[in-house]
Amino acid sequence: MGKFPDGFLWGAATAAHQVEGGNRNDWSEWEKQNAERLAREAERKFGHLPNWNDIKIQAQNPANYISSRACDHYNRYEADFDIAKSLGHTAHRFSLEWSRIEPEEGKWDEKEIEHYRKVIHALRARGIEPFVTLWHWTNPVWIRNMGGWENKKTEGFFLRYVEKIIEEFGNEIHFWLVINEPNIYAGMSYVQGDFPPCVRNMWRANRVMQNLVRTNNRAYVLLHEKLGNRIMVGSAHNLISHLPYNKDSLLDKLSSWFLNNVRNFRSFGWARGHQDFIGINYYHLEKIQFVLFGKRRWYFFRTHVNQDNVTDMNWEIYPEGIYNFLLNMKKYKLPIFITENGLADTTDDRREDYIKSHLQWVHKAISEGADVRGYLYWSLLDNFEWDKGFWPRFGLVEVDYKTMERRIRPSAYAYANICKENAVT
Ligand code: BGC
Repeated sequence: MGKFPDGFLWGAATAAHQVEGGNRNDWSEWEKQNAERLAREAERKFGHLPNWNDIKIQAQNPANYISSRACDHYNRYEADFDIAKSLGHTAHRFSLEWSRIEPEEGKWDEKEIEHYRKVIHALRARGIEPFVTLWHWTNPVWIRNMGGWENKKTEGFFLRYVEKIIEEFGNEIHFWLVINEPNIYAGMSYVQGDFPPCVRNMWRANRVMQNLVRTNNRAYVLLHEKLGNRIMVGSAHNLISHLPYNKDSLLDKLSSWFLNNVRNFRSFGWARGHQDFIGINYYHLEKIQFVLFGKRRWYFFRTHVNQDNVTDMNWEIYPEGIYNFLLNMKKYKLPIFITENGLADTTDDRREDYIKSHLQWVHKAISEGADVRGYLYWSLLDNFEWDKGFWPRFGLVEVDYKTMERRIRPSAYAYANICKENAVT
């Protein structure tokens, strides 16, 4: 029986733009302009997936790419938190939507601030500890118009927003996450060009990542200046497992080592000294092959997955990876929270096993000295999966997007047992 330490926190995570509905920000604008194109490109991008026949109607429909009402969580958060409570969750990660709080430069929307106050209170009233993310990838339109995170001025505006949040909610929040996954944002928006503003330029990506991490570090200092040491501030880092495609190939080994360091640890290294805990978002494995002329993504590398062991999004499941990262992180001597871990699985056939197997490895890491203090499954609800739209289904809870009805999946009950027992068998 794998007991977890006393006080271990259990729950799930969401992000504002993916669940709330009704947002007006750089993403909502981009969605309107790009939905037709994304629908047209769907077959080229996803036609090779084993589940293509199941998703193609949705993936080829432009409406799939418009977040619109999303899960209507903005209006239904109380009922959603009732579900989380009934499932034994003791923690919940969500993000504040900057574009709601400051829709125009320097103008605070008091109604939206009250909304988030109610959200925090709704969690507390249910005995659920809030983990608040200050920035999960979306920008107010006025920030986008200034050049977003390429413009150094964004940092100053962001810090002013953080100061406002501290004034409003400083006394109510213990766990703060400043920036969600600077590496993935910079990669998707400025290297691959799949997310707005759809740039493909390594130098610009690097500038964005530097700006994000510097802002993260200054927000860390600001939070502690204003709130002292009673709070805990961290960031959510995405870590992808990399292994050489051919174990005997030196070039594949070097490539996988290189990508592991560039993708996982560069931004992480810059944030050192500016986190009270490490937040880890872990999903999958990529096997790396060195090639002279790769396709558009990486010029010298091709990624491979074992098709027998993938999620609906073709991400290879590799639970042992989480253990390797946790042991690697021990050296920082900081508490660790798993701030995201999950899979897209429409049929719910693999979710229970995915959660259990990852938790077994987390448990092993704890027994070998990793100071892991909580686990937040991604995600509580099916939601808007960015440029893929609504077809990937990550939720413990299924959302019927026509009626907005919620249906608790069998795996959610299996996870609830783990939360309630504080143990994985
Ligand atoms: C992001 C989430 C996203 C999830 C699944 C994470 O990198 O933080 O917003 O939905 O991955 O792709």
